[in-house]
Amino acid sequence: MGTTTGAGRLAGTTALVTGASSGIGAATAQALHAEGATVVAVARREDRLRDLAERLGERLVPVTADLVEADAATRAVDAAIGATGRLDVLVNNAGVMLLGPVVDGSLDDQLRMLEINTAALLRLTHAALPHLLRAAADPLRSVADLVNVSSLGGRRASEGSAAYALTKFGLGGYSESLRQEVTERHVRVGLVEPGATETELRTHLSPDLQRKQAARYEQVQLLLAEDVADAITWMVTRPRHVAVNEVLVRPTEQKS
Ligand SMILES: NC(=O)c1ccc[n+]([C@@H]2O[C@H](COP(=O)([O-])OP(=O)(O)OC[C@H]3O[C@@H](n4cnc5c(N)ncnc54)[C@H](OP(=O)(O)O)[C@@H]3O)[C@@H](O)[C@H]2O)c1
Repeated sequence: MGTTTGAGRLAGTTALVTGASSGIGAATAQALHAEGATVVAVARREDRLRDLAERLGERLVPVTADLVEADAATRAVDAAIGATGRLDVLVNNAGVMLLGPVVDGSLDDQLRMLEINTAALLRLTHAALPHLLRAAADPLRSVADLVNVSSLGGRRASEGSAAYALTKFGLGGYSESLRQEVTERHVRVGLVEPGATETELRTHLSPDLQRKQAARYEQVQLLLAEDVADAITWMVTRPRHVAVNEVLVRPTEQKS
């Protein structure tokens, strides 16, 4: 772990990325780090975070935490403040997509999605906001960023994704309401809505659902995690007076 200042558009800032052990979160951690930010990378899998820290070198602060645990949010934010004294960017990315029907579906899976995609995000945002507001008042950048990773599934509901849709549609409303609350204090709130992206997200589905998902996207060149990370990096590196509040990014060949 190191905290020296890097070069780049986010030099001197600190970014906290949840779900940084794989997929979109890992790619985002890497992209923000390349822009000079100190990155606090949060997830459960310690070995993955250690690999990321070894790969990126200094300015990467790994925090092993299960975000459904009540103290995880404050631990993660405290790690950022302990390492650098500031928090400029929060990327709420950690999430699961446990698809399935409502009728006779797994209630445990549905509640787990609420815990990770929603309750954990609320806790982290609550813990981070005072620091984001402080960073926004700091002359280094005079702006701070909160990016929530939603989904195309937060705009279009389809059969078999009801509880996932509940978490992601809800995130859209939460983000817009919070945007109105803090935008005049220069905390920008943005929502990213990726379409089908090649990550580990679908590996948690049953073999049958994995087959169905694979068939659905057979003719589609999926987004890479790096494509979504690019969108997030673009959002948080705009000039102070430009707030990108919503980005929907699909694979070109994904029709719906
Ligand atoms: N892939 C897609 O097609 C797609 C499309 C639209 C939206 N999204 C959204 O993108 C976000 C990232 O997903 P991904 O596609 O990159 O999938 P992924 O590779 O499975 O990444 C999910 C991340 O969330 C972390 N996570 C899950 N449960 C956690 C917990 N209890 N505590 C801490 N971290 C936890 C995982 O880390 P650990 O397992 O190490 O804890 C992992 O780093 C999700 O919010 C997802 O809904 C993905």
